[in-house]
Amino acid sequence: MRIDILTVLPELLDSPFAHSIIKRAQAKGVAEIHVHNIRNYTTDKHRTVDDYPFGGTAGMVMKVEPIFHLISKLKSEREYDEIIFMTPDGKTHNQLIANELSTLQNIIILCGHYKGVDHRVREHLITREISVGDYVLSGGELAAAVVVDSIIRLIPGAISDETSALSDSFQDNLLSAPVYTRPAEFNGWKVPDVLLSGNAKEIEKWQEEQSLERTTRLRPDLLIK
Ligand code: ADE
Repeated sequence: MRIDILTVLPELLDSPFAHSIIKRAQAKGVAEIHVHNIRNYTTDKHRTVDDYPFGGTAGMVMKVEPIFHLISKLKSEREYDEIIFMTPDGKTHNQLIANELSTLQNIIILCGHYKGVDHRVREHLITREISVGDYVLSGGELAAAVVVDSIIRLIPGAISDETSALSDSFQDNLLSAPVYTRPAEFNGWKVPDVLLSGNAKEIEKWQEEQSLERTTRLRPDLLIK
């Protein structure tokens, strides 16, 4: 899968993709992430990416031209399945959307900044809008990093043990059961006996019960879905 991220602050995305699963997925060729600086696609000498809004509301608005030039260049090189805009008024991201996006070949993610983006970008270029929650971030970069991470870990080969991503919380609308590692007792705090029993059937039954109990108690809304 190839992901092109469009931003005015590429430095913000240096770290999120340079470690752990996402780094390894790129090294293995499972995923390609390309970060593009929108400022490199301006045509004026001041390299302007934003301007005052018509109508005089507060804040600056991202200009349509550099975004159009960058997206046009990318589209001339390959076909894209989705062109996504990260925005707090988009559809709230969830595991279902991550699953769907992880099956695509090429996607573009546009990170918003300032007061927003010229609405013609959203009307004519964007195919999908995603939010990471009902709060406002300073820009779409961190939101894009969240979405990209959630997608890449699902691509076959990204995680050595594929069942590990499939058993993530939310994959079946259930929270995961608690996990423990050695030592079996620390500070008087004990690991549940059943996990030390070696009885695979009993362990699975306990994990299912825990999963259901935690979901009922902490996220009953998931069960209604
Ligand atoms: N940009 C600013 N806030 C955002 C949010 N909550 N989700 C996605 N993009 C954003």
